[in-house]
Amino acid sequence: MTEVFKPTMMDYHRHLLVCVGARCTETGTGGQELYDEIKIKFKQFGLNAGALRVKRSRVTCFGTCKAGPLLAVQPDGVWYYDVTSDKLDRIIQEHLISGNPVTEFIYHQVGANN
Ligand code: FES
Repeated sequence: MTEVFKPTMMDYHRHLLVCVGARCTETGTGGQELYDEIKIKFKQFGLNAGALRVKRSRVTCFGTCKAGPLLAVQPDGVWYYDVTSDKLDRIIQEHLISGNPVTEFIYHQVGANN
């Protein structure tokens, strides 16, 4: 029987999930482009290490297609749509660094409809 080792993971403050699914955008590629841009910007803004480190992952569908690129910030339960490069800058600065979600870019927030 093969032994399964418990995975390890670096500490992080938030987890950013980016949809790279083909149905999110007209070209089907915007999510991957955003994912690649996030890596560069996390280094620029210092979110790739330290107390505010944000883990970045790709998903293939959130089940809310067509208004992408989409991303979700966990554990905050905040979901952003139509994320452009300029919007990403604001999300990084206002939400990921300062802790204030950018309300006008949100399409779903856990508990907001309760
Ligand atoms: S393909 Fe992105 S939410 Fe479905």
